[in-house]
Amino acid sequence: MAPYIGTSTSRVDGHAKVTGGAKYAGEFNVPGLAYGSVVTSTIAKGRIVRIDASEALRVHGVIDVLTHENRPRMADTDHAYKDFVAPEQGSPFRPLYDGKILFSGQPIALVLAEEWEIARFAASLVRVEYKAEAHATDLQAERAKAFAIEKPEKPRGYAAKAYAAADVRHEAEYSIPIEHHNPMEPFASTVIWDGGGKLTVYDKTQGVQNVQGYVCSVFGMKPDDVRVMSPFVGGGFGSGLRPQYQVALAVLAARALQRSVRLVLTRQQMYGLGYRPATIERLSLGAKADGTLDAITHEAIAVTSQYEEFARNDTAWSGLLYQCANATYAHKLARLDLPTPSDMRAPGATTGVYALECAMDELAVALKLDPLELRLRCYSDRDQNENIPYTSKKLRECYRQGAHAFGWDKRNPEPRSMRDGSELVGWGMATGVWEALQMNTAARIVLTANGHAEVACATSDIGTGTYTIMAQVAADMLGLPLDNVTIKLGDSTLPQSPVEGGSWMAASVSNAIAVTSDEVRKELLRLAKKMPGSPLANAKLEEVTLADGKIVSKRDASRAVSIADVMRHGAVDRIEREKSTDFQDDPSYARNTHSAIFTEVKVDEQLDVIRVTRVVNAVAAGRILNTKTASSQIMGSAVWGIGMALHEETLVDHHLGRFMNANIAEYHVPVNADVHDIKVIFVDEADDIINPLGIKGVGEIGLVGVAAAIANAIYHATGKRVRDLPITLDKLQRP
Ligand code: MOS
Repeated sequence: MAPYIGTSTSRVDGHAKVTGGAKYAGEFNVPGLAYGSVVTSTIAKGRIVRIDASEALRVHGVIDVLTHENRPRMADTDHAYKDFVAPEQGSPFRPLYDGKILFSGQPIALVLAEEWEIARFAASLVRVEYKAEAHATDLQAERAKAFAIEKPEKPRGYAAKAYAAADVRHEAEYSIPIEHHNPMEPFASTVIWDGGGKLTVYDKTQGVQNVQGYVCSVFGMKPDDVRVMSPFVGGGFGSGLRPQYQVALAVLAARALQRSVRLVLTRQQMYGLGYRPATIERLSLGAKADGTLDAITHEAIAVTSQYEEFARNDTAWSGLLYQCANATYAHKLARLDLPTPSDMRAPGATTGVYALECAMDELAVALKLDPLELRLRCYSDRDQNENIPYTSKKLRECYRQGAHAFGWDKRNPEPRSMRDGSELVGWGMATGVWEALQMNTAARIVLTANGHAEVACATSDIGTGTYTIMAQVAADMLGLPLDNVTIKLGDSTLPQSPVEGGSWMAASVSNAIAVTSDEVRKELLRLAKKMPGSPLANAKLEEVTLADGKIVSKRDASRAVSIADVMRHGAVDRIEREKSTDFQDDPSYARNTHSAIFTEVKVDEQLDVIRVTRVVNAVAAGRILNTKTASSQIMGSAVWGIGMALHEETLVDHHLGRFMNANIAEYHVPVNADVHDIKVIFVDEADDIINPLGIKGVGEIGLVGVAAAIANAIYHATGKRVRDLPITLDKLQRP
């Protein structure tokens, strides 16, 4: 297409990030900043009988202690607290609203002081008396009380009957524990008191306009009085989709003190936000002896809170992906006295497809069929749930290229048959699938006569590379060198953007830049035609392109005028245009990304220590805008998949109703020693239906299926099937 799209362009914000020039929400300084420290509940359910802040208030440097008893006014309707990403059902959490305790770790007081250390010390002196009630935090204990939600069931045929009649059957239960996002950057807000009640809020968020709307409705503020900024985000993974309580508390404090306030959560307090809900997944698969899949039943029970119904699609991937005449799903929620779960990278699919892909592996064993061969026999070119074609689906090519790169054909199917010294070697594979969504998004371009463009959109860059791909797309569309493009984002006053999530941002903002560039080109052509003796006098808009600082005929490159000359003749020093996409998604097509993951594990025969020595992830996700940042997304996902398979688990003390390992020392994530060879392949997938640029997005697809591929490799290595994640060595040693 042009010089930048599709290349491995390094991050345009890389220098700012590695030199400390990039500022995060908790790093913006103004004179007179007050510092907050949160006091959190130590019981999981009940109410506050008494809060005694007198000792805290006596500490020199403490300004105030806010509680539900003395806070300024906040909205009193559920509607006011519903951000764009809030679950439809339920009452969003209201920080410091009243004395009711909904979960352990709930914010119940905010100490404000001249220094952060003073605030933190004084917070330890706030005395709280509770009236506790019996709580429930154990999903297994509450599963019988789980209630069904309506979506996403779309059954076909008679799965129970087909299962009973199948030649080969597999039925099992898989489980995934609560996991936390643990982004590097803690949740933080710096609220600048601009005077006259106006606020500038630097917030850690994946959606500045979502936070702006929330702050306005919770505090009854006018849109012009609240500006939310988030120029850099140190990781989100879904934890920053909804406004978190620290932004509400920081705004509350700034309004109470009429002063600028900073509030940074501790790592431990971040376990009082959202998390990936624990799920129990039950799969029944029935097949004919030749590997034809005939029955799928997928039931999931997931955690939600007492006050909101958080639910994602765990189950419907099963019938979507594979050819199978009979499929049925059920999704249930169990209420626990915990915070509401939240989206976490490929929510629903990460857990549901884990179960599906382990079950497929077990079915392949029962059929005495290679697991890849089973997938190929059930391969479908159509979305099986809706019975419609895909805009594009190159999963077959993912299987082929992934298997080739891995060397899958050298696999001995027998468990425990391959070894390397004292280690058993296992090879496993799985399929990944995710949605290719796009959301209407606006962009503004200001082109100046010196050949520079500023491109603006309110989107975030949560570390995925949005700044960079926006610059690449704009440079190509406007025919400018990359260095002549400046990107502005993460500011609620910029053109409209959805939250950065769902893997939709690359497609959404790129197409927004494309349609806005068309407007700029239109204006340039209009001006070019007016030039005396213009070589483009008779050119139509679709016949000209912008390249090398010129507006040029696609048919005859000698017909060209420099953009600088056009603007000089037109007596304009800037061209400014803003436009939104108008995606018209044709409902007769399905939109998905796919992947094939192949993994190698080595398991010490005596100690059962597991190493994931190789991961190959072959991904089909439409046009890849930047092979470097996109590979990093998939590679990061592979690391997370290793964590999901082997390490990650938020442990709950059910007696206290409290997370026990709320820190990164005891919540294990992979470290360098756990990560070996990871290879990312992008399969060519041209797609001229999905959107004009053929983009699908890669933020989440890389994680789906990885844990299953590792679990399947561990079975192949050891002959032992562990279905409850994480697969720790004690579980391998269970009798
Ligand atoms: Mo993603 S879980 O939609 O940030």
